[in-house]
Amino acid sequence: MKESVANQMISNDHEIRNFLFFLSDIHPLNLEDTLIGALAVDSSWGVVAEEVSKARREDAFVRSLEKLSLYIHVPFCSRICTFCHCPKVLLRRHSEIDDYIKVLLRQMMYFSSVYQGMDASSLCFGGGTPSILNEKEMATILDGVDQSFPASTRQIYMEIHPTSWTASKLAVLSGRGLYRASIGIQSFDEKVLKDVARSQTKKQVLWCLRSARKAAVPRLNVDLIAGLPGQTFKGFMSDLKLVIKEGVNEIHLQPYTSFAKEELSKAGGTFPEFLQRRDAMMTAGEELVLASGFRCKGLGGYLRDDKEAIRPEWEYLLPKRAFAAFGPFAMGEFPGAVFYRAGTSDPANELPTVKVAAQNSGYAMSQYALLAAINGLGEDVFFKYFGVALDKHCGAGLRYLQRYGLLAFAKGKWKFPGKWEFRRVREYAALSRVLFGNEILSRLKTKFRQRYNPHHDYENNETSFFKAFTQNWLMTLYYQKRV
Ligand SMILES: C[S@@+](CC[C@H](N)C(=O)[O-])C[C@H]1O[C@@H](n2cnc3c(N)ncnc32)[C@H](O)[C@@H]1O
Ligand code: SF4
Repeated sequence: MKESVANQMISNDHEIRNFLFFLSDIHPLNLEDTLIGALAVDSSWGVVAEEVSKARREDAFVRSLEKLSLYIHVPFCSRICTFCHCPKVLLRRHSEIDDYIKVLLRQMMYFSSVYQGMDASSLCFGGGTPSILNEKEMATILDGVDQSFPASTRQIYMEIHPTSWTASKLAVLSGRGLYRASIGIQSFDEKVLKDVARSQTKKQVLWCLRSARKAAVPRLNVDLIAGLPGQTFKGFMSDLKLVIKEGVNEIHLQPYTSFAKEELSKAGGTFPEFLQRRDAMMTAGEELVLASGFRCKGLGGYLRDDKEAIRPEWEYLLPKRAFAAFGPFAMGEFPGAVFYRAGTSDPANELPTVKVAAQNSGYAMSQYALLAAINGLGEDVFFKYFGVALDKHCGAGLRYLQRYGLLAFAKGKWKFPGKWEFRRVREYAALSRVLFGNEILSRLKTKFRQRYNPHHDYENNETSFFKAFTQNWLMTLYYQKRV
């Protein structure tokens, strides 16, 4: 994005909000991808296994993590929607899935001893389109999971494209612990869908919702997008009313984003007009879901009638569990040990490239401190997690931020005090320096061979790692403020 556009857009709060939505491809949950992921180097699955095994042997914090979440990326889609920013590939022949499953099973088998003894209590199928798998393929994968990662009970999360979902697939998964079905609706307007190369009928979607309810799937989520080309305000609101009436208990309202500005304006009108149209939908949509008994949880997510239902990726931010991820484009992390990201467009590649960054407990502590400060970072909880005093880890840094009004301390907790201005790059950089510690930052500087200059401003038109990092945090704060 051109700096001039950025500058035009950041003059007031509303514009900041637009800008942040525009940047929502820089997802706060991709923090690792941005930060520790930036340190990742081409490596092998062997290194991932070694790092985890070593840390589990030697590091008390890493050893204290007992829960394991499994993530399986199913990259295939039978058709590619024009708007999509998810990692996916077009399925050319169904036999590609057989090859993919063989590799997947071998990958899981290879890692079974690495995570031995951990409670693999959740399994998330993400995509691409996991629902493209047929009943037999699902069962084969689930058997492989049971063999490699035994668990007494396991909750299954599944992303579903309405055109590839059937009663027998639902029956197979329900029988194996389907806990959350997430239906990709985007819009009920069949004309809008046609224009983004997506074909599904309202009838199909309603069947998905109703059959999941009938099968007593505990959590039912829908994804809707605001601002697609041709979508109207009225249409968007009536879509929302319909899913609420159908009794879903989770809604994800996604603001349409794309880095290709021309794409965004396709519905006609200028770019600011696009923003206005989309944000009017987002604002009214949020009002409606809140008035209907949902509460905001996480990035664009709204939940109803839950006790502690939390999306698995939200847990990703807490230093409580490790994520073992398989398949192409998968992103896994063992806090305090390793972060990795499999990157290949060839799902059946036996040895996909994998980028790996080793972590240490210091990183996990910093990451936790920074995230916890959004809702309130307490000494006691920090000590409970890490067995290290907060003050010892980053006390000087916290006080530094307090001096500049960037953190407040009240009732035993450190907290971000509220208003964050977009241009305060110096402070954000200070924040990262203080909480992430010099060790990680100096590795980043070496990696990027960039002089870290906290006085850089957006006008300087410089590509800086810190710029991306700052944006990332602004997004997190923006959403968290509303939780
Ligand atoms: C992996 S897909 C969901 C499962 C399935 N592939 C489907 O399309 O139904 C993840 C979700 O990301 C959202 N998404 C993808 N690209 C987007 C974009 N450019 N802007 C906003 N949301 C987007 C969509 O709501 C989509 O449902
Ligand atoms: S089906 Fe889902 S993952 Fe595939 S292109 Fe469409 S939105 Fe993206």
